[in-house]
Amino acid sequence: MILSILEYPDPRLRKVAAPVTSFGPDLVRLVHDMAETMYSAPGIGLAATQVDVHKRVIVIDISEARDGLLVLVNPEILEAEGEAECEEGCLSVPGYYDKVTRAARIRVRAQDEHGASREIAADGLLAVCVQHEMDHLMGKVFVDHLSSLKRARLAAKLKKRQRLAG
Ligand code: NI
Repeated sequence: MILSILEYPDPRLRKVAAPVTSFGPDLVRLVHDMAETMYSAPGIGLAATQVDVHKRVIVIDISEARDGLLVLVNPEILEAEGEAECEEGCLSVPGYYDKVTRAARIRVRAQDEHGASREIAADGLLAVCVQHEMDHLMGKVFVDHLSSLKRARLAAKLKKRQRLAG
């Protein structure tokens, strides 16, 4: 099932997600629906927060063939090092892209949808994507990293778009 994606500045994007404590069919269904939603958007990552489910669940697929689904339940960053700047976009901020500086390399521990735990080392686009999605779980959107001037410009742009849509 394709889920509807909240759009910035929806206040529900500010909610902090709770850890997943029960692994079962409901979680498997959520992960399945989130993956379907991400692929159909299309996007390379989606956090549960963006579909108004406030649990620590992320799906990512940065593969070109769109066959490399990564499911991160209860992700925790164990190590982060270096700095890298990358242009980011977000399914919750359609049509807007800007540069954000994040850690260049991270090591993450997460569970899959069945509860199995593992560690992942990430750099490049995957490192950016994991950090971007983990921000969502904390109620943070990538535009929060931008200067207040840029955020004011974005707000004006969104207002204009809403007027046109309305
Ligand atoms: Ni996003």
